[in-house]
Amino acid sequence: MRQHTPVVVVVGTGGTIAGEAAHAGDPLGYTAATLGIEALLDRLPKRPEARLEAEQLMQRDSKDMSAEDWQALALRLGEHLARPEVGALVVTHGTDTLEETAWFLQRVLEPRLPVVLVAAMRPATSLQADGPQNLADALTVALDAAARGRRGVMAVMAGRVWEARGLRKGHTFRLDALQGGEAGALGAVEAGSVRWWRESTDTPGLPDVQRQRALSAPPGAWPRVAVVSSHAGSDGSEVAALLTAGFQGLVVAGTGHATVHHRLQAALDQALLAGSPPPAVWIGSRCPAGDPAATIRGLPVQEGSTEVPALTVWQARVELQLRLLG
Ligand code: SIN
Repeated sequence: MRQHTPVVVVVGTGGTIAGEAAHAGDPLGYTAATLGIEALLDRLPKRPEARLEAEQLMQRDSKDMSAEDWQALALRLGEHLARPEVGALVVTHGTDTLEETAWFLQRVLEPRLPVVLVAAMRPATSLQADGPQNLADALTVALDAAARGRRGVMAVMAGRVWEARGLRKGHTFRLDALQGGEAGALGAVEAGSVRWWRESTDTPGLPDVQRQRALSAPPGAWPRVAVVSSHAGSDGSEVAALLTAGFQGLVVAGTGHATVHHRLQAALDQALLAGSPPPAVWIGSRCPAGDPAATIRGLPVQEGSTEVPALTVWQARVELQLRLLG
């Protein structure tokens, strides 16, 4: 452990973890993002080993997250990361797009400290509220990771610690809705202590130019990237429609081992031949688990960046958007 008491900044962004329902027995009919971060922390036992600072940055249902929100969050977290007294950051967030925010933050911030995202599947008013335990676990993980020199963006939920890469919301209702790729969880939190099972994948940050653009480009000017899916009966007609609407990148949720219906493939080939410039096209899998789900293959989108990281299609959409910013 460090000799001094580290500051842990807990930043609230909304989500079900801050949600309230009219009836404690109602797990679904609630409004996300209503309770403040101070109220969530007040429900937890005191943490003498840390100096907690709470900050409400926004109140969002994470399905509504925007590029402006990501920029505001990354800029604020970057300010806290630069403070020498800060040992770790915790961010409360909705589960719905947590995987996208996690990847964005990892790539844009490349944090020198642990940044632990935490969420819940039941609102704070529920008989089954999982937020308090998840938040307590996130603080435990943040402090333990800081003491061990672990760094990077992680997520904590239902007693598991996940890295940003490959993270996904894999269930609509269960309390352990977050899942990772084939590499599995980083560790577990049990009865107030963390058992680490493996190291995080080494995920570098963006080159400086792209990082600066991600933090400062007006969100309206961000490259537009869509996810399209391959399915029985695909005719590929959405490709031309999206390109006409100004999309510069397409991530294809392909079948199985990232295969694509021949009609959709023909439409993509046509767009790549005729486009000026051609769109960036990455192809992944719509399978929720297994290696193909974490493998994106694609075409070079710029000089020197032909390597495409193993990501889910949802995270690949964020990654492609960031690369096209360069
Ligand atoms: C949200 O993503 O903000 C709402 C759903 C959730 O947190 O589980």
